[in-house]
Amino acid sequence: MTRVFSGIQPSGDLHLGNLLGALVNWERMQHEHESVFCVVDLHALTLPKDPATLRRTTLQLSQLLIAVGIDPERCVLFVQSQVPEHAQLAWLMECTVSFGELSRMTAFKDKSSRNEFISGALFTYPALQAADILLYDTDFVPVGDDQRQHVEITRDIAERFNSRYGTTFVVPAHVIPPAGARVMDLQNPDRKMSKSEVSPAGTVNVLEDFASIEKKFKRAVTDSDGEVRYDVDAKAGVSNLLSILAAATGGDPAALAGGYTQYGPLKSDTAAAVIELLRPIQARFAELEADPAETSRLLRLGADKAREVASVTLRRAQENIGLLAY
Ligand code: TRP
Repeated sequence: MTRVFSGIQPSGDLHLGNLLGALVNWERMQHEHESVFCVVDLHALTLPKDPATLRRTTLQLSQLLIAVGIDPERCVLFVQSQVPEHAQLAWLMECTVSFGELSRMTAFKDKSSRNEFISGALFTYPALQAADILLYDTDFVPVGDDQRQHVEITRDIAERFNSRYGTTFVVPAHVIPPAGARVMDLQNPDRKMSKSEVSPAGTVNVLEDFASIEKKFKRAVTDSDGEVRYDVDAKAGVSNLLSILAAATGGDPAALAGGYTQYGPLKSDTAAAVIELLRPIQARFAELEADPAETSRLLRLGADKAREVASVTLRRAQENIGLLAY
C-alpha cells in the first residue's frame, strides 16, 4: 500500500474552501492509502504567534479534522510538536540543504516581504517540511501547486542524503490531489475563499452559526443578467454557488443549473446544503470540545503511531550520517 503524507498549519479558522477543496480529499485518501496527516504547529511558529492562540488553534484544528471524518483509528493523525523526531531530523535536513536552494523558495520570498520579523526558521522552513515527509517513507505528497517547490526541495534533499550517506530515505513524489471544489469568495467571486479575517462577508467558516451562513449566501454577489448557468468566466458568482451546491450534495454544477430559473432559490438551496453538510461536523466538534480527555487520547494515539515509524527512520539517518548510537 502506498503511503501519503500531508500537513496543515493551525492558522486562522477552517473555512468552506479548506473543507471542500482539501479535507474531503484527506477523508477519502484514508480509505485508499496509508495516510499520515499532521497539524504542523512547529511550522506555524516560523511567524511569531501568541502562545495562547497557538495552543487554541492547534487543538481546534485537530478536533476539526477529526470532526470532518479523518479517523485517528484508521489513519495517523498527530500534532507535529508531539513527535520530537520532526525537530531532530530537521537539523540533519538543514545540514543537507544548501543556502542557495533555500534562497530560491518563493514562499520565503513572499512571506519575508510581507512580515516585519523574519525568523531564521522562516528561511529553513523547507528543511522541517522535508523532515515531516521523509520520516514516514512517504511515497506521495498530495498538496496544492503552492507547495510544489517544497516537495521538489524535499526530493533533492533526500537524493543528496542518500548519495552522500547511503540509501536512507524514500524519495517522495508530488501529486496534485484530485481537484476538490474551487470555492471562491462570496463577495469577490474572482478570488479564492480565504481566511475570515481577510474577508468576513465572503468567507463561510466550518464552525459558523447557521443564521450567519444563510445571511452570507443571501448576500452573495451574483450578476444582473438573471440567468442560472455554469460559466466560471462570464458568471463567476453564480458558478461559485453552483460549485458549492454540487460539492455539498455530490452533484454536477452544470447539471444543477438546469433546476433553477432564479438566483434566490439557488442561494437558499446552497445555504441549506452547506448547513446540512456542516451540521454533523459541528455536532462532532462540540462533542470533542466538551471532552478534552477524548481529544488527548486520540492525539496521543496518533503521536504514538507516528513515533513508531518516525523513530526508526530517524535512527537510520543518524547512524548513516555518523552520529553515535545511543
Ligand atoms: N507548508 C505546508 C503549507 O503551508 C504545510 C506542511 C508542512 C506540509 N509540512 C508538510 C504539507 C509536509 C505537506 C507535507 O501548506
